Order: sequence, then structure tokens, then C-alpha cells
Amino acid sequence: MAEITATAPGKIILFGEHAVVYGQPAIAVPLPAVQSRAVVRPGRAGEGLIIVAANLGRTFVVRTDAQPDDPALVVAARLLLTHLRQPVPDLQVVLHSTIPVASGLGSGAAVTTALLRALSVALGQPLDNETLNALVYEVEKLYHGTPSGIDNTVVVYERPVYFVRGQPIETFTVGAPVHLLVADTGLASPTHVAVGDVRRLRDAEPARIDAVLERIGTVARSARSAIERGDTLTLGRLARENQALLRELTVSSEALETLIAAAEGAGALGAKLSGAGRGGNLIAFVRAEAAPAVMAALKSAGAVRVLYTVLT
Ligand code: MEV
Repeated sequence: MAEITATAPGKIILFGEHAVVYGQPAIAVPLPAVQSRAVVRPGRAGEGLIIVAANLGRTFVVRTDAQPDDPALVVAARLLLTHLRQPVPDLQVVLHSTIPVASGLGSGAAVTTALLRALSVALGQPLDNETLNALVYEVEKLYHGTPSGIDNTVVVYERPVYFVRGQPIETFTVGAPVHLLVADTGLASPTHVAVGDVRRLRDAEPARIDAVLERIGTVARSARSAIERGDTLTLGRLARENQALLRELTVSSEALETLIAAAEGAGALGAKLSGAGRGGNLIAFVRAEAAPAVMAALKSAGAVRVLYTVLT
């Protein structure tokens, strides 16, 4: 067997995070500047399936019988073997990822996608995107509480999506290039914690929180038509509005607010957190000519990494 490699990109949510868990629309796009890669090689006879998570410096052995503390990667591999009705093979998979963990960029979904894609090819039964998406979603459900499915959908299909939970995937056109900066607070924030906190808040104050979630849905719908019209000014305004609503859900943080203020102070049209919030990344909508100044402001305000990306 030759070496087999598969990759999967990171993702950014432009509008609608958290509300998407409750049936509101959200917009997300792939972020190919960061990605996960899985390389499968033949293993030694009788050694079984070995997964090397290079970034974590950890090695996992996939056994047939489930253990209560199995990490997501092992669960994912076993799920695939069950789906394909195959025994544990003698293979070694090495995973590398440039997507920071727990930072809102879809690291979990991307690592699982790359792993299952490469492994299914190595096993002679490549998965179509629909099946792969369903399997990655199963793993997301085990490790992220009540995921909407937006992360795995964008990462598996590698295209912009207008996503409504449980509905067929819709994509959209981009009327004029959208210039974005993606800035990392450097603070890890597990998705299931923020999602769980929003759920508790909603349980405590259903009427107030449902109204916030609906307003986020309205913002996401307006953002879709602004992207299609190429109306960047409106996108900036909607980003500010979305961020104000996310604050009401308690998923912003001092670190995010500091960077958002720095970006807007340096000429960004609008900025908001992206993903689960609390830490992780934010996005700033900019005019192309303002990008260098906004990037510099984000860095001097403490962003550990700033990426520049253009949606076309
Ligand atoms: C996480 O990337 C996005 C959230 O909306 C959770 C989800 O949709 O599953 C916070």
C-alpha cells in the first residue's frame, strides 16, 4: 500500500454561532490557511491501528473493545471500522494540524475529517461527503455536547454554507470580495463549555434568550443578502450587531473585547467573535486598504496570530 494523505481545512463562522444550535441560520466558510492532515502508512503485522497525534506528542492504539476514556480520535476510527464492517487493520496514521485547538476554528471537526478520509481510502472504501459528514457529526456529538452540525458540514464539504440545522445544505454567492482578518486571543475555550452555559442561561430565562437568538437569526439572514450584494459596509454593521447579541449570551470576554475595540479603533468596519467565544478567534471585516493598519493594531493589542483572508 502506498502512503495515503488527506487534508481538511479549518472554518470560520461569519454570523450566527450559538443561535444555530437552536435552529437559527448561520453562515460559515472554510479557512484553508490552517488545516489538518492525516497520513496513513502500512503498519507492522499484528500491531493493529496506531494513531500518532504529532502536535500533541501522543500515540493512541485503536482496540476493538471500547474503553470509557477513549479519546475522540480512537472513537472516530472505531466508528469508521464499524461502519465499513472491517476488522482493526495493521496501519499507522500520523496526524498533523496547524489549526489551534479550542479556538473556534473547527479543529476537532477537521482532525476527525482528515483521519476518516485518509483511513477510508487506505481501507479501500473511500467515503462520499454525505457519509463522512454524518460520521464526523457523530463524533462531534460525543465530544461537544449539542453541536448544530455546522462545523463538520463546512469542513467536510469545504465550501461556504448558509446552514440551518436539519435542513439541506445551502451555499451562497459572494457579490464582491469580502476582506477579513482572523485574530487569535490565544485563549483556549472548549466549545461544549460555552454551548452548555448558553443552554443553562436559556433554561433560566427562556423568553429573553429566545428573543436574542431570534435577533441573531435576523442578523444572519441580512448578512447573507449583504454578502450576495457585495455590501461590505452593511456586513461591518451586522458584525457589530451580532457581537452585541453574543455579549448578551455571555460568550464574549475581556480578551475578545480588547481585540475587537482595537480592530474597530484602527478602521475595521466591524468585528465579532467567531465560534464558541470566551477565547479563541475573532473576525474583523475590513476594507482591503485598511487591512495592514488593523492587523498591526490587533497584534499590538495582544493577538497571538492574525490571518488575512478574502472571500471571493
Ligand atoms: C462552534 O463552532 C459553533 C457553535 O454555534 C456551536 C455549534 O454550532 O455546534 C457555538
